[in-house]
Amino acid sequence: MTGGAGFIGANFVLEYLALTENSRVINLDKLTYAGNLSSLAAYSSDPRHIFIKGDIADRALLASLLEEHRPSAVINFAAESHVDRSIHAPEAFVQTNVMGTFNLLESVRVYWQALGEAEAAEFRFLHVSTDEVYGSLTMDEPAFTERHPYAPNSPYSASKAASDHMVRAYHHTYGLPVLTTNCSNNYGPLQFPEKLIPLIIHNALAGKSIPLYGDGENIRDWLYVGDHCSAIRAVLDKGRLGEVYNIGGNYEKSNLDIVHTVCDILDELLPESSHRPHKSLIKFVSDRPGHDRRYAIDPTKIATEIQWQPKETFESGIRKTVTWYLENQSWVEQIVSGEYQNWLAENYGERG
Ligand code: NAD
Ligand code: DAU
Repeated sequence: MTGGAGFIGANFVLEYLALTENSRVINLDKLTYAGNLSSLAAYSSDPRHIFIKGDIADRALLASLLEEHRPSAVINFAAESHVDRSIHAPEAFVQTNVMGTFNLLESVRVYWQALGEAEAAEFRFLHVSTDEVYGSLTMDEPAFTERHPYAPNSPYSASKAASDHMVRAYHHTYGLPVLTTNCSNNYGPLQFPEKLIPLIIHNALAGKSIPLYGDGENIRDWLYVGDHCSAIRAVLDKGRLGEVYNIGGNYEKSNLDIVHTVCDILDELLPESSHRPHKSLIKFVSDRPGHDRRYAIDPTKIATEIQWQPKETFESGIRKTVTWYLENQSWVEQIVSGEYQNWLAENYGERG
């Protein structure tokens, strides 16, 4: 797998190794600001987890890793993933999400074409993508199905859309056995506090303002990260080659509702906090340029073809998440370093 030191990738590694006994994970990650090896500390000396620091665009490295470890599947989590960063500095998004995915596909194609018949038939390339490739919905439009036209609106979503198209092309042109998943907003443990939910918790604990972009009425569909990981395992096992599966939590909420929910849980769990009620920290700031209004996922295909359903409700998942952050402040503290402070100044300094 690639990107296994990031938020979803690390959750995937932890769950996968806990669930299987004889499988090995070869984890290739560049360790950008978003990658954090301490998330994987539980498996740092386990021979079933082999970590390699490197770039998915490095074809020589990929060729040698594929040759040495001979994986039966490659799962591509690695990406630049934050929309606001893609607005400030889009080039890294094109480099990793487009060129990186292309180089990974090329390396995997060469490896797969040299496999014996049985191994080649078993092999899978699973590409982890996002619902943002479909663009924005109005309030009364139906949720995204897998047939919804692509209409990406940010440099991030455009770069992910490009990567999805390359994955599709490698299936249709070369027969590479690919699967693509397009998932909605994830939340849960180990998420970098640049994203909305961990940012709310981080700022609220420090008594800092909680920035809401625009009117706070933008809508996202929220899915607990463990459910995203179980969906990926299910698609890997049962997905039809060349197919796309949308993954979602059936939980559409406005950002304002999300912030209120998290603040209420913090009020309850921290009765002694001098920042209560945490809602009083909410500050409306200028909007994200090109801010998509609404995302919603129609999960019918994965539910009916693969029998996948999320286990966590938002109510149970968000409580677990807030509790995890309260109990793992040291994890947060070690990553909110100089680079993070620079990012806060760059993104929020100008919003007023
Ligand atoms: P993240 O930013 O937390 O982690 C990304 C990881 O990729 C980091 O460990 C980083 O070091 C690594 N990486 C970046 N560039 C790399 C490169 N060139 N080579 C190797 N490694 C590199 O991201 P995430 O939130 O865990 O998202 C993982 C994947 O899931 C991404 O492809 C993202 O587009 C997709 N996705 C995310 C969400 C979400 O809500 N977070 C929802 C749907 C889909
Ligand atoms: O939909 C899937 C996508 O979800 C993934 O592909 C992305 O990798 C992931 O980052 C996420 O994208 P969003 O842009 O939806 O997530 P983010 O947490 O940045 O923002 C969620 C919403 O909250 C969005 O409407 C913007 C708003 N927001 C965000 C931040 C960071 C605020 O109002 N204030 C903030 O400070």
